[in-house]
Amino acid sequence: MDNATTPSIRAVGLGRDFAEHTAVDRLDLEVNPGEVYGLLGPNGSGKSTTVRMLTTMLRPSRGTARVAGADITRDPGAVRRRTGVVLQGTALDPLMSARELLLLQGRLQSLTARRARARCAELLTTFDARDFADTPVGRLSGGQRRRVDLAVALVQRPDVLFLDEPTTGLDPASRRGLWDEIRALSADHGVTVLLTTQYLEEADQLCDRVGILRAGRLVASAAPHVLKEQVGERVLTLRFGDALAAGRARELLAARGERLHTVEAAPHSVGIRLARPGADGETLLALASAGLHAASLTVDEPSLEDVFLRLALSPEGSLAA
Ligand SMILES: Nc1ncnc2c1ncn2[C@@H]1O[C@H](COP(=O)(O)OP(=O)(O)OP(=O)(O)O)[C@@H](O)[C@H]1O
Ligand SMILES: [Mg+2]
Repeated sequence: MDNATTPSIRAVGLGRDFAEHTAVDRLDLEVNPGEVYGLLGPNGSGKSTTVRMLTTMLRPSRGTARVAGADITRDPGAVRRRTGVVLQGTALDPLMSARELLLLQGRLQSLTARRARARCAELLTTFDARDFADTPVGRLSGGQRRRVDLAVALVQRPDVLFLDEPTTGLDPASRRGLWDEIRALSADHGVTVLLTTQYLEEADQLCDRVGILRAGRLVASAAPHVLKEQVGERVLTLRFGDALAAGRARELLAARGERLHTVEAAPHSVGIRLARPGADGETLLALASAGLHAASLTVDEPSLEDVFLRLALSPEGSLAA
């Protein structure tokens, strides 16, 4: 069986074509036990196709993958027993209530009646679903139904959990509830989570590492802060008391070889692109020794959105560019 050094998900050259179209090219991916991994990418980049292959819902056209220690094509039954999944647009029996679905799922997964009831109560609370626990899910709103989907996937804590856009359509409180549940699963129970999302802020806060898919290829895979440092331009903006001081600062900085950033419609301000950590301190000292003291300063860090725009959408699409 698995140990801490065996990845929970390991895909090698995994790919899928639909007729002439390559949805996923040749994906190499490793996700470690207890890790929360976020798969990002524009619409149609292959996120759901990847999740469907890894959860044995869709046969790959090439390559292999092991999930929770089992091969997805040779032993799909074992993969299914050890994983939980919420796909994009899952359909629940519309006549059953959340409570009935949760209890049924608990019994299907061999919990005792007592444990199933306890887990059901816990999940109804986590997803703030107690008020509609006994309403047939066919009569719930989209977001409420989504919360029930998620609760059902979590009844038996799986080894590996796949969530395809789990927070789409959730209100802010339910979204936070899901984040807390994902963090607890990973930190307290060692569950490995692979999720897809269109919310970069969410990926940044929640994921240990993120991968960016672009037209079926993984163009980056690293911790959010590493990707941000690679696209990496922090911008230091200094505001001076008058345009004259700002002009002198610009001249001095240009002479030092600093790369200036245009601050639009702000003659009192100077923007500097900071390539290295610590560069802001040196720059401020150089200005101060020339008698130029900024009235205020701000530093804008690159965001995961900057990384995404660069890697997933820009024409060159590479960190080397
Ligand atoms: N069953 C299918 N038959 C034909 N083409 C498909 C099928 N499923 C997906 N595709 C195509 O494969 C590509 C990848 O689709 P996929 O659903 O994996 O994208 P995605 O990244 O999940 O997008 P989204 O952000 O919109 O959910 C798309 O071009 C899509 O049209
Ligand atoms: Mg999708």
